[in-house]
Amino acid sequence: MLTSSVATPRRRRAQDNPIWNARLLTGRRDWRYTLPGDVVDEFVAYLRAHPERADHPDLADLDCEETPQLAEFGLGLRRGLLHGAGVAWVRGLGALRLSPGEQRLFYMMLGVCMGRVMTEYGPIFCVRDRGGYYKKEAIPVSMTGAETGFHTDSSAVDTLPDLVGLLCEEPSREGGHSLISNAMHAYWRLRVSAPEALELLEKEFIRDVVTPGKESTDESLRRNRFPIFDGGPEGKGRTFRYMRYWIEQGQEKVGSPLTERQRAALDVLDETLASPENVVRLHLERGEQLWVNNRRIAHGREGYADSPGNCRQLQRLWLETPKTDIGP
Ligand SMILES: [Fe+2]
Repeated sequence: MLTSSVATPRRRRAQDNPIWNARLLTGRRDWRYTLPGDVVDEFVAYLRAHPERADHPDLADLDCEETPQLAEFGLGLRRGLLHGAGVAWVRGLGALRLSPGEQRLFYMMLGVCMGRVMTEYGPIFCVRDRGGYYKKEAIPVSMTGAETGFHTDSSAVDTLPDLVGLLCEEPSREGGHSLISNAMHAYWRLRVSAPEALELLEKEFIRDVVTPGKESTDESLRRNRFPIFDGGPEGKGRTFRYMRYWIEQGQEKVGSPLTERQRAALDVLDETLASPENVVRLHLERGEQLWVNNRRIAHGREGYADSPGNCRQLQRLWLETPKTDIGP
């Protein structure tokens, strides 16, 4: 382990929030949301006016004009994700007994009210076990039932969702709990306890190219490089981008495997992210949504096994938020 007793923390910037660990987050209520009654009533009326949209939701049809209460709720949620806890657990949709299509429509409309829906994997992406294993073939871990380890979404240099949403359509009866860990808390811990490791994490790493349809060539791999921690672009704040396996694979493929010091730095990072002090574990029920700030909060899930009559299924949304939205 790389450690040092020399602590030289820089002044924290407002955008480096949220500063919480598991105990603090568990004691807070401001990241647990229940859908307000006026949002629910408004959506029920919207469904009556546009029943066809539940069967074929088209992004081009969706805006917030007819649902001002939902727009207000979405803005509050976004504020909490960008400037508050950085994580939101939204409950209350399951009780409405909506069809899967109606539930998805609500979720997509909420996304539209919070930012630009990114369509690299389609407007909405179904997360379920498709029988593959990401360590045997280059497929996203979201297509498998494997434990993921702490990560942020997207290992493509030009694609970075600011917010990631997960709508639970069917929870697993065996495993599959969601995990979150505050990467900004880890950052400040590492600045104090392991500054040499952090220095390495602030340098570029090559990531494997795994987006379906994109070819993994030497050239595309060498271009697909960026640090794990960096200051982030103007208006977005400090940014954390990480999935260890794709770093190891990317570096290996270009003939530049990780050095011992780099591996040790990733070990320190993994230990910090996964330490019981930092991990919040939760189980999403049908209709519940988990949203995370994908620049600040690492997420993961425990492995799970589908069984006859039970196939875990979540719907993922990736959102880009405006650069100017930097104040609370
Ligand atoms: Fe993920």
